[in-house]
Amino acid sequence: MIRSKITQREQSDPPPRRHDTDTARAWSLILSAARLARNAAWSLEHPLAMRADPDGRVSPVDPAHRSQADLLWLPHEGWRTGDRAADRTEDCHGEDPARALFDLYLPFCRPHPGPVEVIAHLGQSIDGYIATSDGDARFVTGKANIRHLHRMRALSDAVLVGAETVAADDPRLTTRLVAGPNAMRVVLDPRRRLSPERHLFNDGESETLLCCDRARIRPGEQRHGQAELIGVPAMSDGLDLGALLGTLAERGLRRIFIEGGGTTVSRFLEAGLLSRLQIAVAPLVIGSGRPGVRLPPTARLADALRPATRIFRMGEDVLYDFDLSAGAPDHSTDASPQMSMDEAAVNRAELSRIR
Ligand SMILES: NC(=O)c1ccc[n+]([C@@H]2O[C@H](COP(=O)([O-])OP(=O)(O)OC[C@H]3O[C@@H](n4cnc5c(N)ncnc54)[C@H](OP(=O)(O)O)[C@@H]3O)[C@@H](O)[C@H]2O)c1
Repeated sequence: MIRSKITQREQSDPPPRRHDTDTARAWSLILSAARLARNAAWSLEHPLAMRADPDGRVSPVDPAHRSQADLLWLPHEGWRTGDRAADRTEDCHGEDPARALFDLYLPFCRPHPGPVEVIAHLGQSIDGYIATSDGDARFVTGKANIRHLHRMRALSDAVLVGAETVAADDPRLTTRLVAGPNAMRVVLDPRRRLSPERHLFNDGESETLLCCDRARIRPGEQRHGQAELIGVPAMSDGLDLGALLGTLAERGLRRIFIEGGGTTVSRFLEAGLLSRLQIAVAPLVIGSGRPGVRLPPTARLADALRPATRIFRMGEDVLYDFDLSAGAPDHSTDASPQMSMDEAAVNRAELSRIR
């Protein structure tokens, strides 16, 4: 019975569009690059090349034959697309989705990031809110941005959220929409106000760390539901986030993806601990609600953050990917800012229409 259903579906399904296959292949290659980057034994001194079949199976190729490679690792240059990758299709907007995937995600496949690399994301309305006042955040941004979150989880060692996000959404923080591994889940709940019944502390889909003020852990206590309890030193304005990142790094968790909410992301930003901040802006006006980024007031615009930015379209949303590790770009002269080839590829002309 089941078999005949499958056969029927196979017969009636339209064949996959060429650019969907390209996207699936590109994602398989990115996952392979991320897996390699996590492997401390990988020698960065040798070039490496790979290709992906239409079904997404990745295999190595001789780096000397660039025409057969989709993706290469070149010492001192990093990840580069191979000549085979040029043989791809454009979508109905004249864009190459596989190219955009490489551009967006390969920076998160760099091997051995320093002690720790912290990337934060918020999906907000055009007027800067991430949820209504009652905490309804499902969904501010569209499907493409939600898939992006799952991809970022798959490329990260840990995905971190604040207590209020768990209280409001009871999220699972898995990678169920894409191929790829689940990350360690980390919750900041300094006062331990969350019930151990929450999904993250019970579902067993991935490990979870509950990080709280260390004074809240009783002697010998180790678990909150199935989650491991981690005590963090408290400071006058909250948990010591530098100490928290040190503890995560000691456990091999070095690429941390902070998925909200606004309070948590803002605290990391204010503490100068973010390497990248991604803000997806949706064509939605909420009018009032829970804010995204909140920082202490700045008197002069010149002192505001204006980091180097890459811009990606995600369905109807626009993702701003701010690089906070590079320092602010110099706007004091009229000269064009220096851009890497990848940045040049994704930054748009001064005026272009996003259809
Ligand atoms: N659109 C999106 O991208 C998005 C993403 C995630 C969540 N959301 C929505 O946003 C809302 C939650 O965001 P939110 O800004 O209100 O809260 P939040 O950032 O999820 O959680 C804030 C709480 O986490 C704890 N916390 C975070 N950083 C801390 C630090 N450095 N030190 C001590 N405690 C720290 C504090 O808990 P205590 O109060 O117990 O001290 C703080 O009140 C929900 O409605 C959720 O649905 C939207």
